[in-house]
Amino acid sequence: MVDRPSLAVEVCGVPMKNPCIAASGTFGFGEEYQRYFPLHKLGAICVKGLTLEPRQGNPPPRIAETPSGMLNSVGLQNPGVRAFLRDHLPRLADSGTAVIANIAGNTAEEYCKIAAMLSKSRVDMLELNISCPNVKEGGVAFGTRPESVLEITRRVKTESGGKPLAVKLSPNTSDIGETALAAREGGADAISLINTITGMAVDVKNMRPVLANVTGGLSGPAIRPVALRMVYEAARAVTIPVIGMGGIMSGEDAAAFLLCGARAFMVGTATVVSPTACVHIVAELERYLKEQGIGDVNALVGALKA
Ligand SMILES: Cc1cc2nc3c(=O)[nH]c(=O)nc-3n(C[C@H](O)[C@H](O)[C@H](O)COP(=O)(O)O)c2cc1C
Repeated sequence: MVDRPSLAVEVCGVPMKNPCIAASGTFGFGEEYQRYFPLHKLGAICVKGLTLEPRQGNPPPRIAETPSGMLNSVGLQNPGVRAFLRDHLPRLADSGTAVIANIAGNTAEEYCKIAAMLSKSRVDMLELNISCPNVKEGGVAFGTRPESVLEITRRVKTESGGKPLAVKLSPNTSDIGETALAAREGGADAISLINTITGMAVDVKNMRPVLANVTGGLSGPAIRPVALRMVYEAARAVTIPVIGMGGIMSGEDAAAFLLCGARAFMVGTATVVSPTACVHIVAELERYLKEQGIGDVNALVGALKA
């Protein structure tokens, strides 16, 4: 039995005290969660997707529960990058945890402008969201074809002023290894996956779709087997760090992603179920390491005996 396993990791030069990152879109800018636990307990916080101008998102209903998961069609509601820099980042940057800015745009120019604005800020890393299924333009339109992944990554990297750039890949593609390679060729320092899987729900009594947007992104335990398979394939395709996510609810779920090759992991829907999910997942991961007699969490990365 190991006494106190080391949980510290480093993802493209950014030190994190543990590999648990609050996923984009389910943690806002952290404010509401400070009531439940100090933010420095997290390895990092990935903020809600930022656009150049404020966005209201899609009309309601935009959340639906599914078996073992949820559908959302929030549609990138956010106050815009300027408000983030002015009103949220100063407090987040002093919170004792790494800050990842998730960026989204309608056009390549918009992505580049946002990256340039963030490049001079105190964020530790950028995450390029080219995988949002809930917006009409941009989003996943950039993320499904390897050529456009390479091109948008290259352009945004040029504007990011030396900040590490993670590219968040869409699962709505046929060959994830090819997409991961395209991101790396474009200059990505890391890749993160998976974003939600496009789905829908139908209200048969009213003969209408449940979501006003008709389709939404499926997340939670329902997508975990797909996410694990894609993280496994992506980690075999590239040598840059992989950040894994999709349905992580427990420390053992997190361990499975690390075994498949993820250097760190993100937790989204679990936080919607319980605001303290991330803290419990870190404690459970530590217990798992102790039970397995593993002294350093990094020893798990890619250690799957397959
Ligand atoms: C309500 C909601 C909002 C989300 N918003 C974003 C977002 O703004 N940007 C992004 O890259 N991913 C967003 N995501 C996707 C999550 O970050 C994550 O990739 C996905 O939900 C899978 O992880 P999970 O099963 O742990 O939730 C959102 C997910 C949910 C449920």
